[in-house]
Amino acid sequence: MKTSRNDLCWCGSGKKYKKCHMLRDKMSSFGRRGTRGVIIKTEEQIEGIRRSGQLTRKILDMVQERIGPGITTEQINDWVHEETLANNAYPAPLNYRGKSAVGFPKSVCTSVNNVICHGIPGNEVLKEGDIINVDVTSILDGYYGDASRMFLIGDVSEEAKNLVDITQQCLQIGIQQVKPGKTTGDIGHAIQTHAEGLGYSVVRDFAGHGVGIEFHEEPQILHYGKPNTGALLQPNMVFTIEPMINIGRPECKLLRDGWTAVTQDGSLSAQWEHTCLLYTSDAADEGLGVDLG
Ligand code: MF3
Ligand code: CO
Ligand code: CO
Repeated sequence: MKTSRNDLCWCGSGKKYKKCHMLRDKMSSFGRRGTRGVIIKTEEQIEGIRRSGQLTRKILDMVQERIGPGITTEQINDWVHEETLANNAYPAPLNYRGKSAVGFPKSVCTSVNNVICHGIPGNEVLKEGDIINVDVTSILDGYYGDASRMFLIGDVSEEAKNLVDITQQCLQIGIQQVKPGKTTGDIGHAIQTHAEGLGYSVVRDFAGHGVGIEFHEEPQILHYGKPNTGALLQPNMVFTIEPMINIGRPECKLLRDGWTAVTQDGSLSAQWEHTCLLYTSDAADEGLGVDLG
């Protein structure tokens, strides 16, 4: 639903839409780059990203059904790879370079225990008590959907279970900030306050990101920060929120493979990720950011 000329503007300024953001929204409604390189998606693009997000979700559901003690991370990679291709999609991680010197060699990221993110699937066998993040990104009809979940392998310590739960709460609390007129800093601040208030730390070296037309777009979504700073959240933006939370200190170390990020102090780390769509103001009254992934 579109805001009409004489409605109040979605940004919360109290001005009429035509006196506030209407012109800028028109300029950016063709999927061009808006302020600071943020892409405001068209309805058509959103539909494509939604379908890609639905596939990503389906793949994670499949992993959830099969994962358990004795499974190797390579097996998870094979399941994700095959299911992605079977759905006429492509796994975005495979050969992805980003800013790294070496392309990512596999189709999914599997990050076990003290691995923060970008773990490379291999011959590691999952054992009772492990926690693992599986991060799936599908490209369907050219559109990206990016999401990850934590899985508990068998019986897991209270300490690990709490970390996983708190991290999921951090994602939910971040999503609650996804409303027109809020900022990326509001998301980060809410997450940081929750995590640090409970004695956990927020990883600084990786962030959420705009997503959909490319894998990583503007804006960055930091999982820490100050209210009312950063980029303004505008209707039809699509971005991920993907907090990485550690039991110990927040610092990372990159392994020699150029990808695997582990906690410097060896403490456990968890992450949950969703792709979120920022609704227009009318829809935002009913629900908040929608989970597209
Ligand atoms: N899916 C990750 C993210 O959430 C990025 C993985 S890049 C890879 O942004 F190359 F490691 F796959
Ligand atoms: Co992401
Ligand atoms: Co991801």
